[in-house]
Amino acid sequence: ATARIGVTGLAVMGRNLARNLARNGYPVAVHNRSVERMKSLVAEHGDEGTFVPAETLAEFVDALERPRVAIVMVKAGGPTDAVIDELAELLEPGDIVVDCGNAHFADTRRREAALKEKGLHFVGTGVSGGEEGALLGPSIMPGGSKESYARLGPVFESIAAKVDGQTCCVHVGPDGAGHFVKMVHNGIEYADMQLIAEAYDLLRAGLGATPAEIAEIFRGWNEGDLESFLIEITADVLAHTDHRTGKPFVDVVQDQAEQKGTGRWTVQSALDLGVPITGIAEATFARSLSGHADQRAAAAEAFGGEAGAGWVKDSDRDAFIEDVRKALYASKVVAYAQGFDHIRAGSQEYGWDIDLGSTATIWRGGCIIRARFLDRIRESYDANPDLPSLLVAPYFAEAVASGVDSWRRVVVDAVREGVPSPAFSSSLAYYDGLRRNRLPAALIQGLRDNFGAHTYRRVDAEGSFHTLWATPDKAEQAE
Ligand code: 6PG
Repeated sequence: ATARIGVTGLAVMGRNLARNLARNGYPVAVHNRSVERMKSLVAEHGDEGTFVPAETLAEFVDALERPRVAIVMVKAGGPTDAVIDELAELLEPGDIVVDCGNAHFADTRRREAALKEKGLHFVGTGVSGGEEGALLGPSIMPGGSKESYARLGPVFESIAAKVDGQTCCVHVGPDGAGHFVKMVHNGIEYADMQLIAEAYDLLRAGLGATPAEIAEIFRGWNEGDLESFLIEITADVLAHTDHRTGKPFVDVVQDQAEQKGTGRWTVQSALDLGVPITGIAEATFARSLSGHADQRAAAAEAFGGEAGAGWVKDSDRDAFIEDVRKALYASKVVAYAQGFDHIRAGSQEYGWDIDLGSTATIWRGGCIIRARFLDRIRESYDANPDLPSLLVAPYFAEAVASGVDSWRRVVVDAVREGVPSPAFSSSLAYYDGLRRNRLPAALIQGLRDNFGAHTYRRVDAEGSFHTLWATPDKAEQAE
């Protein structure tokens, strides 16, 4: 056995992860179902470190030092199960199987339990950062047992992104915790991108600005609180000119956003856990709406497809841009606050004991949602691990409060002019709902009691009550 670690599944992410390991001095066994892909990796990048080529899974397992660490980087679902089953036959108790794909955390829990029966460790690991991150330093979110982390942690910590000398890899918690946190990361990624898209849409419609002009606005924003990878690449994408037509690139791309499903999983899980992640949900549904081309065409014909254009006066231009920036920031804080609530709820439900502050640490670098303000999130949870909501942490409370007037003006403009901004407006509604003294939920309880005797609780007495709606005096009965 000559390899410290192995990677099976050498599509772009697996390939780059293997190269990252090799470049960091770990001799790495490489295997792929179609052998050609493995050979091309070794041929093209063999000089970057020590690759141990394996043509079969048996050879791959033989090449690994004990306890063996086998990273599986194949498609989520059936293909992952197939490789795990095959590996499990070849491995020995104490060995570790690591799934670095975007698996559903429930699958990870199931796999972990199944492999544990065979004495094997299974570590569902979230990896973010796309192709480049995998190669140069991703953000890594490992689940699984403490024991497996003792063997695996130092390797992952050394290949992960670093920010201020700190690694963007922390043991998230047992079994499915890593994949759960990666799922919520992706949900936040959906919300973040939807908010950016709405900001772009409003700037374009309101100012009548070109994509190149808007790119400059985003570049400016990237110098401040909003500084993040997604804002940076938004400027790049908006500034890009299509070589075929000479038009702005963004104008030649079909306006139907696709998804592989991690945002949908996030929303499904939040519904199960009863966590209102409205920003992520709106972002996911906005992608769905964009994809319904036939319905959109019919509605555009029935109602006219145009929204307001150029309604911002020249003299108000800078103020409008600043309003959109603040609305974006406040909505983004809401999306993260909701995402962290979701992680806390998952952690409680599944007994993971996830440290929210260190989750923010993992996301400071390497991942798609890396952003300057993750430092502030970490500080907020370090100062108070029991924060009821990130929104009320002093730093974020101040950021939201100082942006709320801008936020309202932007949503009012969007509604008046017919520019759809579901994530901006639902985030504002969430904020208003959360801070409200009395919600009309009281009326809903009354209705439920009226039509279905579902009972209600009173503000002035303990216990459940039911009103006898049919009797003339509407007598109350305590249950
Ligand atoms: C990451 C990304 C990565 C992938 C998304 C894309 O963190 O590196 O989240 O996992 O790019 O899954 O998701 P959609 O195809 O669903 O947009």
